[in-house]
Amino acid sequence: MNYDTRYPSIADLKTRAKKRIPNFAFDYIDGGIDQEDGKLRNRRDWHDILLTPRYLKDVSHADLTTSIFGREYSMPFGVPPVGLGNMMWPGAEKALATAAQRNNIPYVLSTFSTTDLDEIAAAAPDVCWFQLYVPRDIDVMKDIICRVKSAGFHALVITLDIPVGAKRNRELKNGLKLPFSLTPNIVWQSMIHPVWALHTLKSGQPDFVNVLRYKKNSNQNLAEFVTDFNMCGVTQERVELIRQLWDGPLILKGVQYEADMKAAIETGIDGVVISNHGGRQLDAAPSTVQSLQQLGSYASENMTIMVDSGIRTGLDVVRAKSYGAQMAFSGRSFFWGMGAMGHAGAEQVIGIYHDEIDRSLKQLGCAGFDTMDKTWLA
Ligand SMILES: Cc1cc2nc3c(=O)[nH]c(=O)nc-3n(C[C@H](O)[C@H](O)[C@H](O)COP(=O)(O)O)c2cc1C
Repeated sequence: MNYDTRYPSIADLKTRAKKRIPNFAFDYIDGGIDQEDGKLRNRRDWHDILLTPRYLKDVSHADLTTSIFGREYSMPFGVPPVGLGNMMWPGAEKALATAAQRNNIPYVLSTFSTTDLDEIAAAAPDVCWFQLYVPRDIDVMKDIICRVKSAGFHALVITLDIPVGAKRNRELKNGLKLPFSLTPNIVWQSMIHPVWALHTLKSGQPDFVNVLRYKKNSNQNLAEFVTDFNMCGVTQERVELIRQLWDGPLILKGVQYEADMKAAIETGIDGVVISNHGGRQLDAAPSTVQSLQQLGSYASENMTIMVDSGIRTGLDVVRAKSYGAQMAFSGRSFFWGMGAMGHAGAEQVIGIYHDEIDRSLKQLGCAGFDTMDKTWLA
């Protein structure tokens, strides 16, 4: 797999994205909550996992494939749900879905995405999953699940970790709200990023196209609508109802607490994503490394453990497997890639992670991702 060696790491893509897109778009991707301690904690704890290399063996080939939910993916890394994706770069969501399909990795479409779900299902027919922010209105929820099923999405991911809207200081200071209001900052930032502005003008302002039809009051702005739309805390009863309505793989995203993990298993959930939303919801939340260390042992034939938040290198994906995670995701990596390189950023990020996972496994003397386990921990 190839990538442009002028930007050989995710950190390089982040630096370039910061120059190429307006600050309100960059801060939306990059920002955490409150003091952003949780975001730093996520990163620090991946960094601290040490693995001992084993030599005296032939490592000319490493097998990166991973099988989850009855399907073999080409590598253990995918695109997680990111709302408002096309704000970072117009057409970003479809470009990512197309690249995910081409490279056979999972693509998870957010409820608050800005591309029609049927369009994404057509672009990524073999690898598309749908992330559900659970609506408080049961009929709306049933309608979305029905649309997702008939579009052909393979897995449904219920996000648990937004019981309340987040207060993100960078977004507030930048005046980011929907519909965009033309504050002096937004106008100025658009003017000094003409390539981004031109593409955005051509494509039109991004909108939450998959849920707009449920808007009851036309005077409501989108921020108010989003707050009104979500359940204030997804209940166990609601998860049980969704389990009855969705017969494909069902995943809970945002699990960090042991009792939640046990409830997931009792409800017949097929997988969890150990996640703290990239440090965007609760600044005191444990890092996902800490949670994975506690919960990774729940991995079984019927329970697939996945993880995100703070993953920035292929080595991190291998580190995650040493604690039992069969698949890892990173939202910021992909959207820094889009900000840095436009649509070419999708293949660039996939190429970087593929290369780094491959080299890490070989350097560790591990013949395949599946065989990486806790015995490599130093
Ligand atoms: C800008 C942004 C928007 C996000 N939107 C959603 C979303 O709509 N639904 C969701 O479940 N998670 C959302 N997430 C969380 C990601 O799915 C993922 O958990 C997070 O990006 C992982 O952390 P990382 O970005 O540090 O890798 C979002 C994350 C970011 C950065």
